[in-house]
Amino acid sequence: MASASSSTTTPTPRCLVRGSINIDEFFALPHIVRPGETISSTSLTKKAGGKGANQAYAVARAGGKVDLDGCIGQDGEWVREFLKEGGVGDERLKTLEDELTGRAIIQSAPDGENSIVLHAGANYHLPPKSSSSASAPDIQQYTHILLQNEIPLSSTLAYLTEAGSRGLTSIFNPSPMLSPEELRKFPWNDLSWLIVNEGELNDLLEAFKSDSTASGITKKKVNTDELTLEELIKIASKGILELHENEYFSRGIGIICTLGSKGILYFDTTTTTGKKEIGHMPAGQLVNKLKDTTGAGDCFTGYFVAGLMRGVPLKKVVNTCLTACAICVENEGAMESIPDQKAVLARLA
Ligand code: ADP
Ligand code: NA
Repeated sequence: MASASSSTTTPTPRCLVRGSINIDEFFALPHIVRPGETISSTSLTKKAGGKGANQAYAVARAGGKVDLDGCIGQDGEWVREFLKEGGVGDERLKTLEDELTGRAIIQSAPDGENSIVLHAGANYHLPPKSSSSASAPDIQQYTHILLQNEIPLSSTLAYLTEAGSRGLTSIFNPSPMLSPEELRKFPWNDLSWLIVNEGELNDLLEAFKSDSTASGITKKKVNTDELTLEELIKIASKGILELHENEYFSRGIGIICTLGSKGILYFDTTTTTGKKEIGHMPAGQLVNKLKDTTGAGDCFTGYFVAGLMRGVPLKKVVNTCLTACAICVENEGAMESIPDQKAVLARLA
C-alpha cells in the first residue's frame, strides 16, 4: 500500500473489467452441421471464455490487480474458480439463480472451418431499474476501467461515464463492433484509450464519415493480407489520424490498432513532450511455430492495461504486449495460451 502520510499519494493501481463471461463448448466434427442434419462430435471440450473474462485474466497474468464485474449462472461456478486461480478478483462476479452462463457453441471441422452459436445468457442480465444498483456504478476504489461490447451497451456506458467523471483511465475494445448510430452517440470524451484491430478501425471510420471522404482500410474491399507492410502502415496511419480528427471522436484518446502478424500502430496523446506521436511496432518474433491466434487480441489488451497501470513508457508497454502475444499465438486456446509475466520477462531477457 502507498504511504498514508501524504494526502497526495497516488492510489495503488487496480483495474475493474466490466464485461462478459462465457463457457466455450468446442464440438469437433467431420464437417459443419448442415440444415436438417444430425452428426456426432468426436470430442467436446469446455473452456472458460468471453472477452471480459479473457481480458481480465490477461491483466492478472501480466501482474496487474484486477476484478471482474459481470454475471454467470450456477453452471458457471467452475469458471469463477478458474478465474480466481488465475488471480482475477471475483467479488463483483454475481451468480444468478435463474440464468445460464453465457455460451458459445463452437463447431470445428478438420479443414479449419468453424461456426459459432452465441447465447448471451447471464451476460445480458441488468439489475431492475428500481434497485439502487441501477444507479451510478461504484468504482471509486479503481484507477482503471476496461470495457468491451459483449454486455448491454447501457451498462458499458454507465461504467465509462462514471469513469470519465472520476478521472479514471478507461480502455475500450469495441468488440463486437457497435452500430454506426451507437458509435456516433458514444461518449468518446470519457475515454482514455481505444484498442481496435484493422477491421474495427475501418468500421469506425465508415460510421463517422461525412458522405464525401473516408480513407477506410477496407473501403474498396482491399484485402489487408495482400498489402505490403508499408502499404498497410500508410493506410492504417492515415485512418488513425482521420479518426483522431473526426468531429464525433475526441482528441485526447490514445489509439492502438492491432494488425495481426504485422504488429500494431500506436497513437499516443500522452507523451511527456506534449506532442502526439504515431508509430508502428512489429509483432514479437516467434520462437516456436504459429499454432493458434485465438485470444491474441485479448492477450494484447490485458497486457496493455497492466502496463498502463505500472506507468511505464508506452513503447515499453507495447513491447511487452507484443512479446506476450508471440507466446500466445505459439500456443493453443484462448485463455490457456495467455502467458504469465514470468514467461514474458524470460523471453524479453
Ligand atoms: P485480433 O484478434 O483482436 O484481431 P490481432 O490478430 O491483431 O488481434 O492480434 C493481436 C496481436 O497478436 C498482434 O498485434 C500480434 O502482435 C499478435 N499476432 C496475431 N497474429 C499473429 C501472427 N500470425 N503472427 C505473429 N503475431 C501475431
Ligand atoms: Na492462442
